[in-house]
Amino acid sequence: MSHQKRNEFKKTLSKKRFGKFSRAYVTSKHHGKSLDLEKLLQLCSPQKTWNVLDIATGGGHTALKFAPYVSQVIATDITTKMLQSAQEFIEKKGINNIKFEEADAEALPFEDNQFDLVTCRIAAHHFPNIGKFVRESYRVLKKKGYLLLEDQVASENKATAEYINNFEKLRDPSHVKTLSKKEWFQELKAVRFKILEHQYFQKEIKLEWWTRVQNCNSKTIQTLRDLLKNASVDIKARMEPKNILKSNCTFKINFILIKAQK
Ligand SMILES: C[S@@+](CC[C@H](N)C(=O)[O-])C[C@H]1O[C@@H](n2cnc3c(N)ncnc32)[C@H](O)[C@@H]1O
Repeated sequence: MSHQKRNEFKKTLSKKRFGKFSRAYVTSKHHGKSLDLEKLLQLCSPQKTWNVLDIATGGGHTALKFAPYVSQVIATDITTKMLQSAQEFIEKKGINNIKFEEADAEALPFEDNQFDLVTCRIAAHHFPNIGKFVRESYRVLKKKGYLLLEDQVASENKATAEYINNFEKLRDPSHVKTLSKKEWFQELKAVRFKILEHQYFQKEIKLEWWTRVQNCNSKTIQTLRDLLKNASVDIKARMEPKNILKSNCTFKINFILIKAQK
């Protein structure tokens, strides 16, 4: 399969899966009630005059967090149904400075130099062409505008990174790739983004919830448990699995927050 066809296939899969599970992402505590939203806000001190673009908004939680502090947020996503669920959820809250627009992160339907801030939280691992997403974010930002990026982060050890990426793909086949810090920095520097700050944090994930939101069957859940059980020392140190064979199984996902400037 050519690169282009493979990339289109991945995007179609994302739309199909997130369309099906959109409500679970709107109500997800992991996405909506998590402390990292506060960290994102603190990282950039938003201004009342700002025009903000939220890429791959999912349930709209990042857009919702920033809306009270800025002039306008445009919440975008490639999945129509996800955008509808986010809009329904946000409109019930009486927020009226968020607009919703369907958009592929790799081909944004906006003019150059439009936004003071671009946010993209827990989504870039779904984008088949990270270079295009980074170039598009740079293009639509005003001069000196900020990109706030939050995503899972891979180990710099290739074998560990590959194992955990495969673990992720098994649960959600629309997962493309979690990048390492080094890979993110390379992508950002390639388009001349200036990296101002980065932070790491971890989230403890309940396997039961994590597989339920993606409707995994029992065979897949068992394979995920086997992967946790048979993981190398390096992987176990990173994922810290607990109670692997029990219903209260947990493991950790490592995240990075990056603040970059055009
Ligand atoms: C986990 S959700 C994002 C969570 C959300 N940003 C938040 O802060 O809660 C991942 C989202 O990425 C979207 N997505 C996947 N590929 C995309 C692409 N190429 N362009 C835009 N959105 C995409 C999916 O439709 C899904 O809504």
